[in-house]
Amino acid sequence: MIIMRQIFAAAIAVVIASAPWAQEAADQVAPEAAGAGVISGSAEVQAAQNAKAQGQPVEAKSWMVSAANPHAVQAGADILRAGGTAADAMVAVQAVLGLVEPQSSGLGGGAFLVWYDGTSGELTTLDGRETAPLAATPRLFQDEAGEPLGFYDAVVGGRSVGTPGTPALLQAAHNKWGQAEWVGLFNDAIRLAEDGFTVSPRMAKLIAGDAERLRRQDAARAYFLPEGVPLAEGALLKNPKYGQTLRLLATDGADVFYTGEIAKDIVKAVQDNPDNPGVLAEVDLAIYQVKERAPVCMTYRAHDICGMGPPSSGALTVGQILGLLAPFDLASMGADNAAGWRLIGDASRLAFADRARYMADSDFVPVPSQGLLDPTYLSKRSEVLRGDAALPEVRPGTPEFDHALNYADDAAIELPSTSHISIVDQYGNALSMTTTIENAFGSRLMVGGFLLNNELTDFSFRSHRDGVPVANRVEPGKRPRSSMAPTIVLKDGKPVLVVGSPGGSRIIGYVAKTIIAHLDWGMDVQEAVSLPHLVNRFGTYDVEEGTGAEALVGPLGEMGFEMNARALTSGLHVIAIGEGLLGGADPRREGIALGD
Ligand code: GLY
Repeated sequence: MIIMRQIFAAAIAVVIASAPWAQEAADQVAPEAAGAGVISGSAEVQAAQNAKAQGQPVEAKSWMVSAANPHAVQAGADILRAGGTAADAMVAVQAVLGLVEPQSSGLGGGAFLVWYDGTSGELTTLDGRETAPLAATPRLFQDEAGEPLGFYDAVVGGRSVGTPGTPALLQAAHNKWGQAEWVGLFNDAIRLAEDGFTVSPRMAKLIAGDAERLRRQDAARAYFLPEGVPLAEGALLKNPKYGQTLRLLATDGADVFYTGEIAKDIVKAVQDNPDNPGVLAEVDLAIYQVKERAPVCMTYRAHDICGMGPPSSGALTVGQILGLLAPFDLASMGADNAAGWRLIGDASRLAFADRARYMADSDFVPVPSQGLLDPTYLSKRSEVLRGDAALPEVRPGTPEFDHALNYADDAAIELPSTSHISIVDQYGNALSMTTTIENAFGSRLMVGGFLLNNELTDFSFRSHRDGVPVANRVEPGKRPRSSMAPTIVLKDGKPVLVVGSPGGSRIIGYVAKTIIAHLDWGMDVQEAVSLPHLVNRFGTYDVEEGTGAEALVGPLGEMGFEMNARALTSGLHVIAIGEGLLGGADPRREGIALGD
């Protein structure tokens, strides 16, 4: 292990600044404290859990999978071990996640996937984002006076449900890159759904915390609160309806979801919801398409950081943060230096100001993607960071563009949920996929044993300000702006890091921090994942409570930041690719990395 870690450390271009609080603080992110808990499993699962508990990366030579639940990781590992590709394994992982972590992702949601092809060396992305119904209007989330609805008034029920993209994405990825028989990829998920699985600590905690909202929807109440009581940790839970849905998907393919009985049931649940009906119709499902898009890449510390462009703001905002930080020597400052975190925090605020103004679904709204990542624009914008105090005010910049940049700032609320899957297979393919139903438990509507998303609330609730339109306003057929940032980092054209996280709009900060920790501070993947979070999006500096990062509250506060210690529940799942593979899994969640 030591030799392997030395090889990886040597491969990192900019080397290690010592980080005493960072190391100590990483040790303090105890899984139990974060409600992450431990799920029992095979000997290899237990070994992976032990590695995570000790803060060690998992090592492998040939393939690896890192995701948010051991059952799901085991399903993916079994496919990879049998010679399947990363795309095959992803289908199995997602099918199980939709069962054992239903609050975060599943067939009723959407996802973005970044793929590095080991044979051609090409990088591409698939957009399986949920889509606004054709009958949706910019006022979907406004009351009769045009004022934004309360968040949960919008979320719970049919109004927030967009056309799910995940089933079509699974099919598209398998059609393009799969090698194993589609029908066999659902076996583990079907078995677990029909024989039952043990409710995890995290799932039980989240059900209890959401009981009042779940209780209001019949199907969710029956499943998550049988006999009126929230499911307890350790309960054996069966989901035969989900098993039946998976059997149909396995034998008939994803079309069965978009044109058959399942589509009808989804539309009925959305339109007939008594409290908050939505406008999703059968035609919306019938016309749904996964979109293949070019990756969005930028260069940072001689690496190409590549990810998902619009409708996600992920790659653009992570890229802007890194581009704004490029002129500064973060490596010599180290991970426990308040001056370094001042730079990271204010770079993030600048990037989020541009995000709020310019980023949306580029199929509907002109987005200045190139201008936003232009090194000259970013280097000029980063000059304001050269002081030694927090920026008093942050405004959007004016990136180069050939359209009028006449947009108003958006008002979208994104609370943490979602899940991330990283996979490398024995053929040299790498897959980074972030997958979501948006808020924990999505719309709380359940059909066919899975939850329907509330992704439409990722649109801005305000459609315009003072007559100026918001780029991320609701429009029929448009995809809501996301923060999901599935990322693959390349060096000399070869992938060296596969990374991503859940966490609402804090995803962007979690991913940027992990890349900085690895490339600037020389941390291995598990150290980088475990490193306590500090995230600043809109001015308030969030610091992960109960960790050594709280030592920075004083110094950053003196620089002028408003500080807020709070739980910051990421779900980073990361694989480093060098002489071998090193996997890291977030101690704040229940996942593991497994490889061979
Ligand atoms: N709903 C989470 C995201 O798309 O960013």
